[in-house]
Amino acid sequence: MTDFLRLAEDIAREAGDMLLAKRPTMSGEVETKSSPTDVVTILDKASEELIRERVMAARPGDRILGEEGGEAPGESDVRWIVDPIDGTVNFLYGLPDWAVSIAVEVNGRVVAGVVNAAQRGEIYTAALGEGAWLGGERLRCTTGVPLAQALVATGFGYSVRRRAVQGEVVAAVLPSVRDIRRGGSCAIDLCSLAAGRLDAYYERGINHWDFAAAGLVATESGARLGGLHGRPVSPDFALCAAPGLFEELHDLLAPLDPERDA
Ligand code: IPD
Repeated sequence: MTDFLRLAEDIAREAGDMLLAKRPTMSGEVETKSSPTDVVTILDKASEELIRERVMAARPGDRILGEEGGEAPGESDVRWIVDPIDGTVNFLYGLPDWAVSIAVEVNGRVVAGVVNAAQRGEIYTAALGEGAWLGGERLRCTTGVPLAQALVATGFGYSVRRRAVQGEVVAAVLPSVRDIRRGGSCAIDLCSLAAGRLDAYYERGINHWDFAAAGLVATESGARLGGLHGRPVSPDFALCAAPGLFEELHDLLAPLDPERDA
């Protein structure tokens, strides 16, 4: 596990340094993906290529799932799950909340995760059963926060039909919580929750590469991560908070049927 974590951290650091160096001149070169607002920059692709090359050099035969390149086949029980830039829109606009996210899964279970929020100068790490860390500091999520006092982060998908429902849902949540945040990077939202900077997070439509590494950071900080009605976290729905608050927020969200699109 330590070897996986060390390698993932080295690679995430190298990709983050490359992105920091090239962003000022190269971040404007974009293509669109699922909708006109869903962008991929040339640097998303360069970051994923770098990560794939480094993983393959160190661990030939492992499988890799990346946001931009899809799944590369392999025989190994080990799969690397990569988001080369989570928070691409922030990256494009020069906002600091974007991150390189790398998780290592063994037999379908994430055992190590690294989130390099390079422009913040923060690297979050977690290993299964061994805690979550920001640099030398062990992370613990907030506990005992009632829903009415909770600072809740969420996000919105790229499709208009999904956003219409997400807008309705957040309007219904807002009067019951302290406030809402929309940071623009699922990975950083989950790491912020682990660091006690947010109390809860929910979102419909995030992908495995968005939450694989940061989800481990959050759960290793003491938070519960799951879907609705006892289901595991998935692209259908993600909800994360300390036990207690998780259930309170779940019971507010579930009747709103937030897993639908308009
Ligand atoms: C996005 C971010 C954002 C979330 C979107 C994701 P990307 O990832 O995590 O916070 O609201 O649902 O797609 O596209 O920047 O990798």
